[in-house]
Amino acid sequence: MNPKKVTAPSVKAMKSKDRIAMITAYDYPSAKAADAAGADVILVGDSLGMVVLGHGSTLPVTMDEMLHHARAVGRVRKEALLVADLPWLSYHLGARDAIFNAARFVREAGADAVKLEGGAKRLEVVRALVDAEIPVMGHLGLTPQSVLAMGGYKVQGRGRDQADVLAADARALAEAGVFSIVLEGVPAGLAARITSEIPVPTIGIGAGKGCDGQVLVVHDLLGMLEGPVPKFVRRYADLHGAATDAIKRWAEDVRKRAFPGPAETYD
Ligand code: KIV
Repeated sequence: MNPKKVTAPSVKAMKSKDRIAMITAYDYPSAKAADAAGADVILVGDSLGMVVLGHGSTLPVTMDEMLHHARAVGRVRKEALLVADLPWLSYHLGARDAIFNAARFVREAGADAVKLEGGAKRLEVVRALVDAEIPVMGHLGLTPQSVLAMGGYKVQGRGRDQADVLAADARALAEAGVFSIVLEGVPAGLAARITSEIPVPTIGIGAGKGCDGQVLVVHDLLGMLEGPVPKFVRRYADLHGAATDAIKRWAEDVRKRAFPGPAETYD
């Protein structure tokens, strides 16, 4: 194994030492860029459904679709840890399904770990995956696969009781053996409290700066889609604008017969 390869234990060991940078990728070029940029963790997220496949939520995403994209990401010889998201219903029916589906990510896509959403309800599944030697990343707070049950995409953990439940879920996931936990859409104070209470790193998205790491969806970070983005996104590029402009200029060149020119033509 490449000695620089990021592993689930090495991510766990980053707790309270080094900040963890996790970014999503869904195909070969985005994984190449993420790895070349030095991301610690590459997540093939089920946000695939929204940012790549054009669905309104993550619920339509299937195991086959996730595998198709995870395989492409897996073809990059990465140093980053490759985490694949278990999509909705791939682990809700019990540990056997969860192990079967997670093992497909490991065997067919070269995933180093899987991520799943939920707390107390998912402990049995988490224990079974860990028992099958598959590292698990948890995901708490605004869990997009629960959008129907939550009644929309809403910040979670506001108020003492909800906050205590979330904190208890995080402690229970850590005890069940997850190597890290994504905290999504929770107040910054609660994310910092959870981060101080558990022995594994927290990776925040819309959870403030008190987490052990941060994750963003690559399409949001790079501005690959037009339209408004959530408050927690910082756009580092406008690739949608750049791509639209480039294609427009090429189409104009085609129409005025300026493309192809001699340099783009075989004699
Ligand atoms: O699917 C995804 O991209 C995610 C991240 C936002 C954490 O779960």
